[in-house]
Amino acid sequence: WSQTAAKSDGVLAVGGVPVTDVVREHGSPAYVLDEADFRSRARAFRDAFGGYDVFYAGKAFLCTTVARWLAEEGLSLDVCSDGELTVAERAGFPMDRVGFHGNNKTLGELQRAVELGVGRVIVDSFVEIERLSAVATELGRTVGVMVRVTAGVEAHTHEYIATAHEDQKFGFSIASGDALEAVRRVHQAEGLDLLGLHSHIGSQIFDTSGFEVAARRVLALHATVGEEIGVEMPEMDLGGGFGIAYTTQDDPSDPAQLATEMSKIVEHECRGLGISEPRLSIEPGRAIVGPAVCTVYEVGTVKQVELDGGARRTYVSVDGGMSDNIRTALYDADYSATLASRRSDAEAVLSRVVGKHCEAGDIVVKDEFLPGDVGPGDLVAVPGTGAYCRSMASNYNHALRPPVIGVRDGKTFTVLRRETVADLLATDVGVS
Ligand code: LLP
Repeated sequence: WSQTAAKSDGVLAVGGVPVTDVVREHGSPAYVLDEADFRSRARAFRDAFGGYDVFYAGKAFLCTTVARWLAEEGLSLDVCSDGELTVAERAGFPMDRVGFHGNNKTLGELQRAVELGVGRVIVDSFVEIERLSAVATELGRTVGVMVRVTAGVEAHTHEYIATAHEDQKFGFSIASGDALEAVRRVHQAEGLDLLGLHSHIGSQIFDTSGFEVAARRVLALHATVGEEIGVEMPEMDLGGGFGIAYTTQDDPSDPAQLATEMSKIVEHECRGLGISEPRLSIEPGRAIVGPAVCTVYEVGTVKQVELDGGARRTYVSVDGGMSDNIRTALYDADYSATLASRRSDAEAVLSRVVGKHCEAGDIVVKDEFLPGDVGPGDLVAVPGTGAYCRSMASNYNHALRPPVIGVRDGKTFTVLRRETVADLLATDVGVS
């Protein structure tokens, strides 16, 4: 974000395009996606993790354009529903570079995944192992399988808990022995090709010690599989979760540094266990797309309220809100905002950027100092909205989901068009 956006005459420009032009051409609100920034982050991961496969986590944000960029940049793709798989198919994404995730894939999803020839299915339950084996056998195919395991590590933004978090829906527990049993069953099942273990410990993580503990536990299981089942699994996936800066308080992950640290841990552990190193893969989503997008809103109304103690806060209402960014309401996430359409020398005042939905929790940016003269017609930009904003957007209050507008070399192009009332009404069958 900071590298590709610049202010000239107080107007924010992204990818060489003033956001005032984006809004003139495409309306407000809009997600603005900087193609060069997206591609350079994808490449940074690919290059840093040289020998690894980098699976972009499509749940962060996926559409055919992005899938094509990823294919061109040599990344692989993690999908977790038939919808995401269909986007990959439509984009012509190489299916052997697709991994299919999910704790409750339907029979239909498994059939489609096998028919399309996805490179791997990450299995998550005993029921699924049987189901997938039956599907593969019936279709006369062999499908690559990773076994999702729970390393017993819960990672938060700045901390991790290494002894907890068995009590959740994902994966097979290493501690209980289920993970080893799952590997045994995949190994014995017809139509399944056991590739390795998969672990994902959380999201928006800065402290790499969580990865370290998880990697140690997963590698120990990897070695046990070799001893007890007699198979040397070729691969291992350490998941995603690399944190990005949402405000100036955060320090973004550096792919090169992450890669060095992770390789060191794996090399060290494998030497200690006396096993050869599996081929590693990772699954970043947020760290690639998050910083490549900002949302541009138009201000509609402004209101001042008095806080306890006499201080004041300005409520700046914009033409979007929790329907295009649920993360503040859902996770108490921090974002920043900036006046994007003009220069202002007015004194900065404590402001809260809120949406237009019928809910008091409809907050986009909790606290920001914005010029005191911000008012109707001004544009406000919120950076870092590429991940889990459009992909988690809703039609609450029959809001129309905003478009995603790509910018490249001073030009705009539509990646996802704005929804229309006709789109909304298309599902409303109605009874007369
Ligand atoms: N791999 C697996 C198996 C995952 O479940 C996820 C995210 C990722 C990779 C990518 O994680 P990332 O690198 O993007 O952090 N909606 C939440 C985040 C949920 C993440 C779910 N899984 C948010 O907005 O913060």
